[in-house]
Amino acid sequence: MAEEAVLGYLEKNEEISDSGKFAEEKGISHDEIVNVIKSLNGFRLVDAQDIKRERWMLTQEGDMYAKDGSPEVQLFLAVPPEGITREKLQEKVEPSIYKIGCTQAIKNKWIEMGKLEVSRKVLLSENFAIELKSDLLYFPVECFTEDVQHVDDRVRDLLIQIQNGYSVKKGPEYISKRKKVATDLTRENLQRDDWKEIEFKEYNFLAKGQPTECGCLHPLLKAFGNGKVMQPTTHLLTVASHLTYLPFHGILRKFEEMPTNNFVESSFWNFDALFQPQQHPARDSHDTFFLKEPSTTRSLPEDYVERVKRVHESGGYGSRGYGYEWKREEANKNLLRTHTTAVSSRMLYALAQFSMYGMSREECSCDLGPFAPKRYYSIDRVFRNEAVDRTHLAEFHHIEGLICDCGLTLGHLIGVLHDFFSRLGMSKLKFKPAFNPYTEPSMEIFSYHEGLQKWVEIGNSGMFRPEMLLPMGLPEDVQVIAWGVSLERPTMILYGIDNIRDLFGHKVDLSLIKRNPICRLGL
Ligand code: PHE
Repeated sequence: MAEEAVLGYLEKNEEISDSGKFAEEKGISHDEIVNVIKSLNGFRLVDAQDIKRERWMLTQEGDMYAKDGSPEVQLFLAVPPEGITREKLQEKVEPSIYKIGCTQAIKNKWIEMGKLEVSRKVLLSENFAIELKSDLLYFPVECFTEDVQHVDDRVRDLLIQIQNGYSVKKGPEYISKRKKVATDLTRENLQRDDWKEIEFKEYNFLAKGQPTECGCLHPLLKAFGNGKVMQPTTHLLTVASHLTYLPFHGILRKFEEMPTNNFVESSFWNFDALFQPQQHPARDSHDTFFLKEPSTTRSLPEDYVERVKRVHESGGYGSRGYGYEWKREEANKNLLRTHTTAVSSRMLYALAQFSMYGMSREECSCDLGPFAPKRYYSIDRVFRNEAVDRTHLAEFHHIEGLICDCGLTLGHLIGVLHDFFSRLGMSKLKFKPAFNPYTEPSMEIFSYHEGLQKWVEIGNSGMFRPEMLLPMGLPEDVQVIAWGVSLERPTMILYGIDNIRDLFGHKVDLSLIKRNPICRLGL
């Protein structure tokens, strides 16, 4: 209808000089007319020019003052010649009128405010010449910038600028009525066989398509890196493996991946096998998620359990043990593994069994009997009953590495850690003596964060204790150096993410995940 009005008008007239006035005359909203003009202008059916002249109108408040008088006039008129109490005056006028009106009328010296009484200071007739009401009454409904320039500041505050309009002439492609072209070929067109007559809209090959939504790799997946996929829990890596260059699996390619596909673990492998005493605070339900169903493990290697019990209770292998009564029920309790070191303990136990019975002396690299050095690693989910904040989640990932050989020292561990972290772009490292029940010596690993300009703790490490390795059946001269790092911490550093919840979990910031480049080069 608006389109017909514009095109129809131009058929008989030279020009629409002002779209605003035109809209008013036709009783169509100006917005609608403007939309039509823009669209017709786009197809060159009309030639539209902006009208640059600003136009002004009274605001709603201005409208009100024009009708009833300014607040001070309303207030003045409410004060009878004989005066009135403040209280009564307040009842007579609106609260907002009272407030502004009093201030303004006192300033104009029209009224006097006593403690209780309000009285007029001037005669009624003197005021009409100066009052705002008359200014506004003679103010045109709409006026142009030139008129506004001469207006008193207060009046000006009661005006708003109204939207620019267009002047419109016929364009080069002008037609008085646009033909409606079809955009779809419908089933009805085919049934009625009228499609041959229909004029279809031309394809616009230059139109931009809808932005495509596509999958993207999660930064953690990228940090997992390019590697052999050994087990079901890391099958997602197949997607990432040919694309990613950030590289835990890559860095660890000379290491064998340990099978981490059991989130549920027994306390035995998670703690006891690691020489972690049963009273240790980490074994508390405040720190660990215990399972209700099934609450206990089905089987454990009995002879090994016996050796573990003995080393906890009374030591052996040169140790005094802890000297407490070790309880099988405690070891049987199922939990969500709190670290991937549970996997390492299973793996080392399996290695010890294999070493003792499965390998010939010729196949081994050292003289200590049937034993082959090993390099193992794992990257997978761990769980801790932790309060969630910017840097802690109850569910996150560990990267763990261990090397098992004879003659290893703390020097080897430090060297390996330097090598591992420098490949991630973290070459400034510091080590701090620490304590773990399963390692001695133990070291916390710190890296200098250039962005934060401070040392940040990135991992934990150490040499597994004889109290852990010897009951497993590993030869006495075999040492194991090991380290554990959360996957999230270095990923946050590398991707500049300062809230772990943006990276992983149900509050993940999807736009951040999408924004990140598909792969990181240069590391
Ligand atoms: N298990 C340790 C942790 O949870 C990491 C670690 C692994 C420490 C191996 C020493 C040796 O942080």
